[in-house]
Amino acid sequence: VLVGGGLLTELPSLLQRYCPARRYVIITDSHVAGHYGERLRETLAGTLDIMLVKFPAGEWNKTRETWSMLTDRMLEAGVGRDGAVIALGGGVTGDVGGFVAATYHRGMPYVQVPTTLLAMIDSSVGGKTGVDTVTGQNLVGAFHQPRAVFADVDTLATLPRAQLVAGMAEALKHGAIADGRYFDTLLARRDALLALDRDALAEAVIRSVQIKAEVVAEDERETGRRAVLNFGHTIGHAVEAVGGYKIAHGEAVAIGMRAEAELGVRLGVTDASECARLASGLQAFGLPVSIPVDLPAARLVDAMRHDKKVRGGVVHVTLMRRVGETARGARGEWTSAVDETAINAALAASR
Ligand SMILES: NC(=O)c1ccc[n+]([C@@H]2O[C@H](COP(=O)([O-])OP(=O)(O)OC[C@H]3O[C@@H](n4cnc5c(N)ncnc54)[C@H](O)[C@@H]3O)[C@@H](O)[C@H]2O)c1
Ligand SMILES: [Zn+2]
Repeated sequence: VLVGGGLLTELPSLLQRYCPARRYVIITDSHVAGHYGERLRETLAGTLDIMLVKFPAGEWNKTRETWSMLTDRMLEAGVGRDGAVIALGGGVTGDVGGFVAATYHRGMPYVQVPTTLLAMIDSSVGGKTGVDTVTGQNLVGAFHQPRAVFADVDTLATLPRAQLVAGMAEALKHGAIADGRYFDTLLARRDALLALDRDALAEAVIRSVQIKAEVVAEDERETGRRAVLNFGHTIGHAVEAVGGYKIAHGEAVAIGMRAEAELGVRLGVTDASECARLASGLQAFGLPVSIPVDLPAARLVDAMRHDKKVRGGVVHVTLMRRVGETARGARGEWTSAVDETAINAALAASR
């Protein structure tokens, strides 16, 4: 994973070095094509055999239909096994572009060139690729590791602020689960980060990627430690689902982290002052921490039970001991089974 400013201009040599191929296919969405994709194609066309395929931006296009359209375009253009994919864009592009790479000719090499903060610190690292279905998100996919990730923080200049803040929620999560000092550094550098200071952004991306990569390296297929990355996501996903997906993912995760920290307090695992520290850090970045009043607890609990991570009808969550440290179960487990009474108490405390 390379992180820095101006990496896009170095892509011709970076590709040849880290992902040599006879032909490259840039997969990108309609927004990113206009900002960076078309220009990148021109830059690369000087030295490499290159084509660009795009799909309409938006989570609702992270589908098998988009996957078919992209793979058909590549088949028509005669892209062979000696080709490689460049997934240029946010997490949607990374997931669908990675899934194309995982399946085209039974798998071809690819690189991730993330252009959202979320994609840089989260979705581009770890090798999960896939698409959504009407039943739910990310239900059809594959594990397929990119050859390299090139995160050019200069591309964040055009990212809408709400998207930047959504990415910050995941960065703060990395601090909360693994590194309290990183959490504090993010807060100390808040103004620089929000003002898109190149060094501040690069440092944050690097630290977040280190944390995510370390967790994933230990548990690529998600049987154990990888679950800690879901901190805030069990209640967060329920908030998203019951809210009809009108609440942004990053905001829902912020609400979810606070609520899951409240759960830790109720279970005697988390100190109330650490829960407050987490909440005030999230709020400092303008993230919400209260469950909207129009989302009834009963529906949230119901949605949590339908989460694909639920085992045997019992909800398991990652609990934070303190900011920077995940609580472990008696046998070293990274998640704990929680009963409905505790969940309801935590939800009530998070209004
Ligand atoms: N694979 C994983 O491990 C993993 C982890 C977390 C999230 N995800 C997935 O990531 C997706 C969310 O990613 P996201 O938040 O990046 O969404 P996204 O890819 O939809 O990007 C958000 C919006 O910003 C636009 N955009 C992207 N880069 C831009 C730039 N530099 N300037 C201007 N506009 C830009 C996009 O066109 C889009 O409209 C979800 O589908 C989620 O499931 C995957
Ligand atoms: Zn998330």
